[in-house]
Amino acid sequence: MVEQSMWMRKVAADPGHSQWYVERMRSLARAGDDLAGEARLVDAIAPRGAHILDAGCGPGRVGGHLAAAGHRVVGVDVDPALIEAAEQDHPGPRWIVGDLAELDLPALGITDRFDVIVSAGNVMTFLAPSTRVAVLTRMCAHLSADGRAVIGFGAGRDYDFSAFLDDAAEAGFTPDLLLSTWDVRPFRDDSDFLVALLRPR
Ligand SMILES: C[S@@+](CC[C@H](N)C(=O)[O-])C[C@H]1O[C@@H](n2cnc3c(N)ncnc32)[C@H](O)[C@@H]1O
Repeated sequence: MVEQSMWMRKVAADPGHSQWYVERMRSLARAGDDLAGEARLVDAIAPRGAHILDAGCGPGRVGGHLAAAGHRVVGVDVDPALIEAAEQDHPGPRWIVGDLAELDLPALGITDRFDVIVSAGNVMTFLAPSTRVAVLTRMCAHLSADGRAVIGFGAGRDYDFSAFLDDAAEAGFTPDLLLSTWDVRPFRDDSDFLVALLRPR
């Protein structure tokens, strides 16, 4: 067993939290908001019909869009209520309940490594801090040799970008490209968001 994720601690403290998040995503979608920015970047760097893991997929916003673009998507999230919503709202991908710190998809029969692993929506900052390196290590182990992880999260969430890049190096990643937005603006010292494109070393 690994330390419980910060997200599931929030859910334990407020059992309505998962449903609130699902409804928030659904209402943004109904209002016509652009919820596919992260998926567009991933689609741009992925081969056609790529094998893509949406790590910390929540209710399936990113993975659902990538599946609609023709990719073979697997989504993993620790919150069963969000996986249930992903199954309802974005049928097609394989949606799996699981903690990324214990990710072992071959044990579930998913033996192909991934071309891209995407982790959007501040997932990194909702992990239990003690599991950060383990999560990144499990991601690295699931990537193909020339695959890439694309991980985005904001500043001011108790996970410094420099600490994240150290953890990623410890997990076996090397940075390919650091951006400050999902629409490909460069990362600078004062950027308040990081989108890191990482590859296995
Ligand atoms: C703000 S939501 C983002 C959801 C989705 N990526 C998106 O952008 O719409 C953060 C997600 O991280 C997931 N998460 C946090 N810790 C996790 C862990 N250890 N393993 C799997 N998922 C985790 C939560 O369950 C939650 O769905």
